[in-house]
Amino acid sequence: MKNKIVYLNGQYLPLDQAQISVMDRGFLFGDGIYEVIPCYFGNLFHFQAHLDRLIASLEGICMVNPYSAEQWLEIFKPLMDVSKNQYIYLQITRGVAPKRDHAFPENIQPTIFAMCSDILPFAGLETGVKAITLDESRWQFCNIKSINLLANILLRQQAVEQECAEAILVNRDGFVTEGAASNVFAVINGELVTPPKSNSILAGITRDVILELAEKNNIPHREDSISLDALKTATEIWVTSSTREIIPVVELDGQRVADGKVGAVWHKVNSIFQAYKQSLL
Ligand SMILES: Cc1ncc(COP(=O)(O)O)c(C=O)c1O
Repeated sequence: MKNKIVYLNGQYLPLDQAQISVMDRGFLFGDGIYEVIPCYFGNLFHFQAHLDRLIASLEGICMVNPYSAEQWLEIFKPLMDVSKNQYIYLQITRGVAPKRDHAFPENIQPTIFAMCSDILPFAGLETGVKAITLDESRWQFCNIKSINLLANILLRQQAVEQECAEAILVNRDGFVTEGAASNVFAVINGELVTPPKSNSILAGITRDVILELAEKNNIPHREDSISLDALKTATEIWVTSSTREIIPVVELDGQRVADGKVGAVWHKVNSIFQAYKQSLL
């Protein structure tokens, strides 16, 4: 693989030369946050929404946004390949502390890392994927895009080991929260439903865009809790994220979703979504 150029603390350097201290709190504690911003042929998708979420994540861990929107764009520009569909990965940790102590150290500089990677077409987009439901095992601040992804990783790994593309998480009250790395939509009684924003889910940018497009195109939709029982009656289930976009789930826990084929609402919303993306280029 080409040794790509990444950004680390004010410098651009080849990936294999980018190094951080073992005393970095991101490394020692997972004390940091991140953001993933699609970058279609050099155009950042819904940049302001991603920046707003970055700021909210930073506030959520008592840090401040170090740069203006213009400064962030200047930082990202040299990383991007304008001939491709890519995404910016941005990570900010609390920085390098003199000693390993849980409490925040005083006067340390955040560690800021950014790189750009290709978005590869996701194989399951047209055919649909399998998913499993698993018990929600994460913490109470899932609205923060924390680099602490251990629970998400373990959940996704369980899905992969069962040849599923995603784990759909169900809380102890029997309601769907989101996927291990995605938001969840379901078509129930002809209406598109997704759980409302709360501390139990990450406020996905893709999720917001889908809701806006559904509104504009008169597709019946609502933000509402989805019980596991209701999910099982859904005629369509989707999982959504910036890098995979809108993925139809055609099998849940080994049972077909409706007839096991990608549904009509997905076809409609996906084509509206793709057209919308094109319109921004
Ligand atoms: C836990 C979780 N929920 C939701 C999402 C979807 O967010 P977005 O659409 O902004 O990528 C992600 C994205 O990776 C995620 O990790």
